[in-house]
This record gives sequence, C-alpha cells and structure tokens, in this order.
Amino acid sequence: MTTSALANATIRRLTAGDVTHCADLSEDRSWPREEHKWRLLLTAGTGFGIDAPDGKGLAAACVVTRYGDAPDAPDLAAIGMVLVAERFARQGLGRRLMSYVCEQLGPVPLTLHATPNGRPLYEELGFTTPGRAEMLMGEFRALGDETAEGTRPATADDLQAILELDREVFGTGRMHMITRLPAFADRLVVAEDPSGRLTGYAAAWPNMHTHVVGPLIARDTGTAKALVSALAAGGDRPLRTDVDVRHEELRDWLKARGLASITFNAVMTRGVPDLPGDWTRRFAPLTVAAG
Ligand SMILES: CC(C)(COP(=O)(O)OP(=O)(O)OC[C@H]1O[C@@H](n2cnc3c(N)ncnc32)[C@H](O)[C@@H]1OP(=O)(O)O)[C@@H](O)C(=O)NCCC(=O)NCCS
Repeated sequence: MTTSALANATIRRLTAGDVTHCADLSEDRSWPREEHKWRLLLTAGTGFGIDAPDGKGLAAACVVTRYGDAPDAPDLAAIGMVLVAERFARQGLGRRLMSYVCEQLGPVPLTLHATPNGRPLYEELGFTTPGRAEMLMGEFRALGDETAEGTRPATADDLQAILELDREVFGTGRMHMITRLPAFADRLVVAEDPSGRLTGYAAAWPNMHTHVVGPLIARDTGTAKALVSALAAGGDRPLRTDVDVRHEELRDWLKARGLASITFNAVMTRGVPDLPGDWTRRFAPLTVAAG
C-alpha cells in the first residue's frame, strides 16, 4: 500500500471487542499487552483505530477520555495509547490519527503524557510541555519508619466523597472513570483527618506483573506516603507509579524504598497553558494514558 493510500485509510471507533487487537498492537511496539487497562480505556473512553491493510489487526490506535459534566462539551480530554504498528511506522499514520482526533475535539483542552518518540508529532500539532512525570517501578521495601496511620480501605460509602475530592483536585469531573475504580483496582484506600473528612485516596490496579499506584491524591506528602504504605502493605507485586516531578520528596521517598527511575514522560497540553486543578494534591495519575 502506498503512503498516500495509508494516509487516507478509514479511521473507525474501537470497541471493547478490539481489546485483543489493541494488546497485539502494544506488543508489536514492545509495550506490555495491558489488556486490563485497554478494557478500561475502551469502555470509559473512546478508542480510534485504523485497520491494517494487510488484514493483520490494527495498523494504528489511540484512546480519548473526555472529562466534565457535559458529554458534548467536555472540560478536558486526555489522549493515550497512541500506537502505530512497526511495519507502518513513519508513513504518516500517527499524524493522520492525531490530526483527526484533534479536529474531532475542536476547542476542547487536551492533555497527554508523551514518550520521546511521540513528542515531535504532538509539538507539530500545537501541544506544549508544562510538566514532566517520572515513572518509578520496583519492589517496595519498607524501611520500618512508614506509617499508614489515618488511612483505611475504602468502602462503598466513601465513593461520593472520593468523587468530590477528585473533582476538586483534578479540576473537573471524571465520574465515569472514578466510579469504575472499585472494580478496576485491586485495592482502594482513603485517608481522613480526625473529624472524618477525606484528605486523600489512592488505588492500586493490576497491570501485567505490577500494581500501578494511581490515582494518588493527598492533602500533603505525608498523607501520600501513608496511602502508598497502606497499598504496599497489602500487595505482592512490584509497584509502578508516575509521579509529577514537582513532588520531589515523594519521589525520593519511593526511591529509598526500592522503586527505580524508569523514564520521564512529558506532560503536554493543547488549548490550555497547564492542567486544571491542584497539582500540589495530585501526586500520580490513574494512568498516563488517561490523566
Ligand atoms: C510515535 C508514533 C505513534 C508515531 O507514528 P508514525 O506513524 O510513525 O509517525 P508519522 O509517520 O505520522 O510521523 C509524524 C512525525 O512524528 C515524528 N516521528 C515519528 N517517528 C519518529 C521517530 N522514531 N523519531 C523521531 N521522530 C519521529 C516526526 O516528526 C514525524 O514527521 P516526519 O516523518 O515528517 O519527520 C509511533 O512511532 C509509535 O507508535 N511509537 C511507539 C509508541 C509510542 O511511543 N507512542 C507515543 C506515545 S505518547
């Protein structure tokens, strides 16, 4: 197929039935298959893809997750899992898919976490880089001075307060994502002050051989550490999390407990100079693919 034919290939909506195709595409680019995450993104968000002209699955894919109360006029949309199969790389498919998605979303403010590979394309499309996140991964080894005091497992009764805190800190509502957390995550914990007011919450969800810690939302670094300690105490897998680089104290604390720096991703936005909400209380995203 010629490059121009590829550039005109039909872009279609992906459904939950495409999870295996999406995971195959991840594998094609040496990414983990992450089927659990794909399933979440394809149900809470909207997947777009281009079928491979050779009939072997998908040639390209990405997922858009819209946030806000009005589905037709989102406050923010996150783009993730932008992937082009290796055999079709550098033939304009990534640009075509991203341009299509940006056009569909029009004036909606956009965000994404970019790998070094994707960044030149996003810059070409008008994204800027207001921040960075460090991916940390490894077995959490307690040093003995950790405390999970003030935290406890979340119950169904906490969901409303979690949604309210999350909206305040994330800067807009993401009910369709957060209400899926109790089923999506293996563990969900909350922190509260002596009066019973919620001061933070965090989830650990299974991703291949790891547990991803995210969202991690907390009043301060001490509360964030307590939430991570509570999650780590109940777990049997290495942890992964993507911490906003401005939270240096938490990054150092995690590294001292066995998590290693894997890479840095650029936090990019389009249409807004920075992410909405309160970064001081937003330590890690649910997933870099959805904010
Ligand atoms: C990033 C990715 C989606 C780009 O898709 P693609 O179809 O190969 O890209 P395009 O052919 O549309 O190229 C668009 C521009 O991106 C840049 N680009 C693409 N691949 C690049 C690479 N390997 N190195 C440097 N720049 C690159 C170039 O500026 C390119 O424009 P040019 O070819 O006119 O110079 C694809 O390489 C990919 O799937 N990579 C692995 C997964 C990944 O990192 N995804 C990004 C997640 S944020």
